[in-house]
Amino acid sequence: MPFHPFLSKTKLYNPIKSISKPFHVIFKYMEFVAFMSENRNKGKINDYYNKSAAYKNRFQLHDKILSELKNKPVFYYEFGVAGGDMIKKWSETNKVKESRFIGFDSFEGLPESWEDKKAGHFDQKGNFPDVNNDTRVRFVKGWFQDSVYDTLKDCDFNEQCVYHLDADLFSSTLYVLFQIFPKLKANDILIFDEFSSHDHEFEAFELFKKCINDKWQFEFIGAVNNYRQVAFILK
Ligand SMILES: C[S@@+](CC[C@H](N)C(=O)[O-])C[C@H]1O[C@@H](n2cnc3c(N)ncnc32)[C@H](O)[C@@H]1O
Repeated sequence: MPFHPFLSKTKLYNPIKSISKPFHVIFKYMEFVAFMSENRNKGKINDYYNKSAAYKNRFQLHDKILSELKNKPVFYYEFGVAGGDMIKKWSETNKVKESRFIGFDSFEGLPESWEDKKAGHFDQKGNFPDVNNDTRVRFVKGWFQDSVYDTLKDCDFNEQCVYHLDADLFSSTLYVLFQIFPKLKANDILIFDEFSSHDHEFEAFELFKKCINDKWQFEFIGAVNNYRQVAFILK
């Protein structure tokens, strides 16, 4: 006799769900610690353990990647643009005329709460960042779920692509990973901006990897801020 009819009849699943939920989060955290430990001492840049981690250090990871890409044509896709700090960094550093920089965002902030931020955080009131009329830069406004699929159909992927996943949330990150999956090719780069958010970007990436039948190896490029920002190259 299976146990579930009893649970279903008594509605005991409700308290058991509440009691067991923290264990899932702890499990994810341990998976993340395992990831850190396995990649310790690896990568072209890795500051673990950095007692003075600071958000501004995320530029160090991008600088490292840009040092090899700044004179090459790249297609930089950013998911989560907000005020545009990072898309500006890429378009201002890489001046190659064939390069393209495409940023997706609602420009109305996060659709759900994330860590200590409420839904709507990062709201830009619908305004795009000022990119000094750089015609290589394009912004796509809307929820990813309404805009990414159609936009990517008409985009180019034949140069080396850099995908900057900076939407913070599990839902947004997972959605984007599956949308870009058919476009991925060897030597493309994935950069996560909040990777140590272990039940969001990290969990989305782990789930994605389980579902793609080992199609790609994600070689660790490096990490800063104790794995807050992490990058991989596809092999
Ligand atoms: C951390 S901010 C991006 C920061 C930016 N990349 C930078 O370097 O300064 C996260 C952004 O993701 C956007 N975002 C998250 N989920 C989204 C979704 N499903 N659709 C559209 N935008 C989303 C939010 O609007 C927010 O502006």
